[in-house]
Amino acid sequence: NAPLRLGIAGLGTVGIGVVKTVRQHSALLSARTGRDVSITAVSARSRDKDRGVNLSAYAWEDDPVALATRDDVDVYVELMGGTDGPAKASVDAAIAAGKDVVTANKAMLAIHGQSLAEAAETAGVSLRYEAAVAGGIPVIKALTEGLAGNDITRIVGVMNGSCNYILTRMESAGLSYDEVFAEADGLGYLEADPQLDVGGIDAAHKLAILSSIAFGTRVDFDGIELEGIERVSINDIRHADDMGFKIKLLGVAQRTGRGLEQRMMPCLVPATSPMGQLQGGTNMVAIEGDAVEQIVLRGPGAGEGPTASAVMGDVCDIARGVRLPVFGQPAASLEQADRATAVLP
Ligand code: NDP
Ligand code: HSE
Repeated sequence: NAPLRLGIAGLGTVGIGVVKTVRQHSALLSARTGRDVSITAVSARSRDKDRGVNLSAYAWEDDPVALATRDDVDVYVELMGGTDGPAKASVDAAIAAGKDVVTANKAMLAIHGQSLAEAAETAGVSLRYEAAVAGGIPVIKALTEGLAGNDITRIVGVMNGSCNYILTRMESAGLSYDEVFAEADGLGYLEADPQLDVGGIDAAHKLAILSSIAFGTRVDFDGIELEGIERVSINDIRHADDMGFKIKLLGVAQRTGRGLEQRMMPCLVPATSPMGQLQGGTNMVAIEGDAVEQIVLRGPGAGEGPTASAVMGDVCDIARGVRLPVFGQPAASLEQADRATAVLP
């Protein structure tokens, strides 16, 4: 079989993780997919930056669009981030050039998911994004494949590791939100724009993507009732603890008689529940379906290895010739859901 040739744009935490995985697991990838998986070209902002790995074997492109459309690239792997800009332009170009695409970019998918899915399905290429939701947890695969025979009724989850780190650290160290925010920022745990994390926006991007797959609706980020963790105080956490609860930034998507309800906000969860005991950057997603009842997936929501793991799962599927509708059913058949406002008890 012909080798599968990757072009990788973005050589930060995730991109370098993918480069390392392709190198370390070349025999394993070949055995599992029946094809050699190789990298032919890469791109990032700075060619001179020391990234801790030798990239000299790969062609360099300054322009991600040029990388995405190279003749010696079969799969364009977009790991730069950003809703628009070079990420969107290069993914558009890759699809138009008939390349399969793998991305970890939840911001782009939450806003442009429908048009990208329609373009990919019209062009007959794959658009895969396992890493975009809950890092190393294969939740997209669970929804689109393993649970495809279920009528999904509800998804509940902790989908932003940085927020969970801040909330659990405030509690364990008795520190204020501002103190822990500064600490997390200093440790490099937060997005370049921290508001994406603490404002709940990053988690809401992920919830919007999961809702689309689960409920067969168009990605509706604007339909999410959204509140971040910035106003959670150490006193809130102490009072919750006194009553036997923890505060978590919880995403909930469920179909109600009034329409699709989506919310992302700080919630009380029982302290002794698995969700209540979730520490640090760990993510957890519970999915309820009519046949399966409930499954719970838990694991690292970010980081070099876990996120590269998810990207490589997508690459392996493409190498094997697996082709799925982007959001689990043809994009043209996805409907705009009626928005239901949450009715809290
Ligand atoms: P980083 O900030 O670590 O890396 C981004 C990379 O993109 C850098 O190599 C940067 O180049 C490159 N880049 C940025 N802008 C451009 C541009 N205009 N042209 C060319 N290259 C560019 O990001 P991450 O690796 O953390 O994240 C990448 C993607 O993965 C994002 O969509 C993110 O949301 C997603 N993601 C990240 C996770 C994580 O744990 N980090 C987890 C799940 C998803 P340079 O290095 O030269 O500056
Ligand atoms: N900022 C994100 C988080 C990265 O903390 O979960 C992974 O998507």
